[in-house]
Amino acid sequence: MTEKETVPTNPPREKAFLVGVDIQNENALLAIEDSLDELAMLADTAGLDVVGELFQRLQKPHPATFIGTGKVDEVIAMVEETGATVVLFDNELSPRHLRELEERIELKLGLGKVKVLDRTALILDIFALHANTSEGKLQVELAQYEYRLPRLTRAWTHLERQAGGGGGRTGSSGGVGLRGPGETQLESDRREILRMISALKADLEKVRGQRARYRKTRKAHRIPVVALVGYTNAGKSTLLNSLTDAGVYVADQLFATLDPTTRRVKLPNASEILITDTVGFIQKLPTQLVAAFRATLEEIAEADLLIHMVDISHPNAVAHYHSVIDTLKELQAESIPSITVLNKIDLLPAHPSKMNISPDFHRPIFISAAHKYGLENLLSEIENQLFKAYTDLTVLIPYQEGQLTSLFHTSGNIDDIQHLEDGIQITGQLPQHLLAQFQPYVIRIQQVNR
Ligand code: GTP
Repeated sequence: MTEKETVPTNPPREKAFLVGVDIQNENALLAIEDSLDELAMLADTAGLDVVGELFQRLQKPHPATFIGTGKVDEVIAMVEETGATVVLFDNELSPRHLRELEERIELKLGLGKVKVLDRTALILDIFALHANTSEGKLQVELAQYEYRLPRLTRAWTHLERQAGGGGGRTGSSGGVGLRGPGETQLESDRREILRMISALKADLEKVRGQRARYRKTRKAHRIPVVALVGYTNAGKSTLLNSLTDAGVYVADQLFATLDPTTRRVKLPNASEILITDTVGFIQKLPTQLVAAFRATLEEIAEADLLIHMVDISHPNAVAHYHSVIDTLKELQAESIPSITVLNKIDLLPAHPSKMNISPDFHRPIFISAAHKYGLENLLSEIENQLFKAYTDLTVLIPYQEGQLTSLFHTSGNIDDIQHLEDGIQITGQLPQHLLAQFQPYVIRIQQVNR
């Protein structure tokens, strides 16, 4: 049994009522209906049964209750009718919104009958369920505390106690939507939470140090690293499985993969690469989560090549693609070379060559990760990008770094070489996978493809 297969089974399912707000001029990536569909999938992944939904178009959120007060009454009536125990908002609610909504619902339906959650809390909850490594757990726990700190109201504390959370520092899982920090912490005061936050940060620093050392060793061995990125459910773990015997946990659930899993893969030319699976992206990924997962996502920022996977059978494939590109920008990883891979072509009504595929996708490669179709093509494109795509550059290599000068001679093409006072200045071309080592000495760089 692999580590990933030990993911806990879902707790008993609760009923959730979804609420969305379409705020004018907010330039949402998905239409409100699609965003609610996605929220329903997230809810399902968290073990909630969706019993109804409604949405409202607003110019701006209501200052007290986010939705208009008339809508709040409508929601309460629907909650009563459907027997929902969770009201789930598609948008992130401020501490005030949450408090006011809870108070109004409590007033009508009674104390502790219905929980109000927002998208961020739900995503944090799913992350808590799926974190496997100690680093993943620490990251989620820290993000949960930071999210909850300003929201620690009487009502929150009361509801959280009722939910009977799980393991606190050692793990997660408890009542739906309120998993994570365990009972002992939930009973403690703000100061205690602040203390926990700083302890978690210190622990994370240690784990990050270890990870950085590991990455350094990998670099020293010069094995190129390819990171799989993509919207959640795109098929990244399936691809990694198909390419290796990795046995990564694969599930038709959002965020089945939370911790990066790295595997060694052989290319057609027999050179080896490391492929690393990363957390799935999603639109409206809470900023604090991007920050919390920065360490994990550093795997992406330090990769030599990205494989951007898209589920081409999904109606919002293009929007997903752009959302991932936006997140990559946030991670300052947009300049890393990438290959666009359109997956699940077995689900398309016709062969992609006979279909109108959006021109937004840059030079796509079509595959079916599940059916192992198109994988040879993908591997040769990886090989192409890593070993055949050259970068034009000028470097000034200090004399004490003689091994780099020899490496340029043996693996690159040299146009010009000059022995200067500070070192050897070389102008020429280097393959992609060697660039990282020369990075500190680059004077000028320009990508060329051959
Ligand atoms: P996250 O962990 O959420 O980031 O997901 P992921 O991108 O790792 O996706 P995963 O590999 O878990 O696949 C999601 C679902 O899509 C699973 O049910 C897979 O079996 C399915 N899937 C993946 N590739 C294909 C494919 O080529 N064709 C079909 N039909 N289904 C696929």
